[in-house]
Amino acid sequence: MGQNLTKASTAAEAARTALMDWWADAGVAVPPPPPAPRPGVAGAPSLRPRGVQREAAPEPAAPPPAAEAPAVKAQSEARAAAAAADSLQALKSAVEAFEGCALKATAKNTVFSRGALTSGVMVVGEAPGFEEDARGEPFVGRSGLLLDRMFAAIGLDREAIYVSNILFWRPPGNRNPSEDDIRACLPFVERHIALAQPKVLVFAGKLAAQTMLGTSEGIMRMRGRWSEYRIRDASGAPTETALPALPVLHPAFLLRQPAWKAQTWRDMLSLQAKLESL
Ligand code: URA
Repeated sequence: MGQNLTKASTAAEAARTALMDWWADAGVAVPPPPPAPRPGVAGAPSLRPRGVQREAAPEPAAPPPAAEAPAVKAQSEARAAAAAADSLQALKSAVEAFEGCALKATAKNTVFSRGALTSGVMVVGEAPGFEEDARGEPFVGRSGLLLDRMFAAIGLDREAIYVSNILFWRPPGNRNPSEDDIRACLPFVERHIALAQPKVLVFAGKLAAQTMLGTSEGIMRMRGRWSEYRIRDASGAPTETALPALPVLHPAFLLRQPAWKAQTWRDMLSLQAKLESL
């Protein structure tokens, strides 16, 4: 009898594993298996003598429909909300109302933008830090002060540049944002650029440059080299309209490695020349 019981439980285990595999392939979230019951404990295989009829097993419940992965769902919700916004103010409200980015749960404020497009320059940085989260404005801490000095050096007042980030909420403890965090915000950032219509984009730091230019190239190779950013349509597809885009070293990096300010100064002069040529 012991052998038969072992065979039956092995077959049941195999059937369960096959069903779980099928659900997993279909994209259904599968709960972990319950711990195997020990014989003699409630839920353990019955020790009924052989030959005794068992009640017919109930029909197995149909598996729930395949669930959309949360990150995909968040991005399509962001895309729909962003597409519905027809002004910067409407986009700001849509970002503030969005619940699909996990960073929002730990942030104090949504950080959307500061400044104006008077000069035609839009700066896109990475993520709000402590000060930005507290004040609800991008680049207002130490990095922000340096950013303002970089632009003042080419004659642009902080009020004349429009500044935002690829993330609208501070990652807790300034941790690196996850790919899901970035994906959830990206449709809003793309719409942000499409609605702002800057003449020139400046991507501050590796994460901003890589995300917006869709590359994994390092910032040390990208900095100071002009690229093209194709404006996205409401579905996220690139349009024919391209903007000049300049990746630069992040001011937080320059605070740690001031020797790189010399190269950044050259990059800023290149920006100045570009603006004069437009
Ligand atoms: N660093 C960024 O990239 N953005 C901010 O808003 C502040 C610091």
